[in-house]
Amino acid sequence: METRRPSLFIQGTGSYVPERLVTNEDLAQIVDTSDEWIRTRSGITERRIAAPGEATSDLAVQAALRAITDAGLTKEDIDLLIVATVTPDQPFPATACLVQTKLGLQPIAAFDISAACTGFLYILETAAALLERGPYRHALIIGAEKFSAIVDWQDRTTCVLFGDGAGAAIISRENKSGFEIIDTLIGADGANADILCIPAGGTACPSSPQTLEAHLQYVKMNGREVFKQAVRVMGQVAQTLLARHGLTPADIKVIIPHQANVRIIEALAKGFDLPLDRFFINLHHYGNTSAASIPLALDEARKAYDWQKGDYVLLVAFGAGLTWGSTLLKYI
Ligand code: ACO
Repeated sequence: METRRPSLFIQGTGSYVPERLVTNEDLAQIVDTSDEWIRTRSGITERRIAAPGEATSDLAVQAALRAITDAGLTKEDIDLLIVATVTPDQPFPATACLVQTKLGLQPIAAFDISAACTGFLYILETAAALLERGPYRHALIIGAEKFSAIVDWQDRTTCVLFGDGAGAAIISRENKSGFEIIDTLIGADGANADILCIPAGGTACPSSPQTLEAHLQYVKMNGREVFKQAVRVMGQVAQTLLARHGLTPADIKVIIPHQANVRIIEALAKGFDLPLDRFFINLHHYGNTSAASIPLALDEARKAYDWQKGDYVLLVAFGAGLTWGSTLLKYI
């Protein structure tokens, strides 16, 4: 089984990060941490933080405009819009609807999907299924997050790891040169939901003075457990997807993993028996941008390499849920 969806392509990509750059040294001014601790434990040296009035939809719009231009399309060509985010502008309506109106798109279907850091692969698979079925021709998919709004800036174990940003792609049925979508595999295990979550503010535990006092409206994470699960599930999903096509990690020109922690990527490389330079890594500059991480890296990687026909690219991610996913692309 080589190509499940022979006619689907990534026709364009775009990304956007907010202007404000926050270094590890800056963070050491607000929590008990150091540049040395953050760099050696995570690989992160800086991240971008959105301005107070800048919402997730604003980051998404900038990335989308770049992707539409990159694809050589106009706004009128877009007939499906999906946003992956766990930091929506509001609990409802969907951030996709807000992006639609800010971009001035046609009254096309627009909805959000919540799969945390795996979100982009979930929306890629959803868009691919809808495009395959028709009548859609060009789907705009965007991973966008303003994580700075949901981390506890008094909790050094989480606030140093995340950043804000957005990445977008246009998935098209038109046969163009570029990256063909060969296959995607996604999965989830809700039994591990509590190792990375926001405990309060939903229907199970609505916000109250007590939850606010206890900072339960912010991200809580069992970092060691997430680390272990991340290495395990990313390795498994990637190997399973590759095996479906008779491939091994050694056949892949560039692996684009979720950008959470360079040590997770090093462990993945070890498991694949590959040198680290086969992985595209930009987390040094952005930290973990959750659903924006993979499309931001994909956009940069597309422009960074001299791609040859037949080159394979593998996207692989994990996130809260737990969720995981992998997508195989081929340069044609
Ligand atoms: N600065 C200084 N010290 C710190 C900091 C900090 N920012 N954070 C924690 N420490 C301390 C801890 O308190 C602990 O001190 P103690 O030994 O006195 O108790 C010590 O450093 C070691 O802490 P560990 O948690 O054991 O450190 P570890 O080496 O495991 O690294 C980390 C922590 C970076 C969080 C790592 O476990 C990790 O990356 N986990 C995965 C996180 C991840 O990928 N999250 C994203 C998930 S994707 C999504 O959907 C959002």
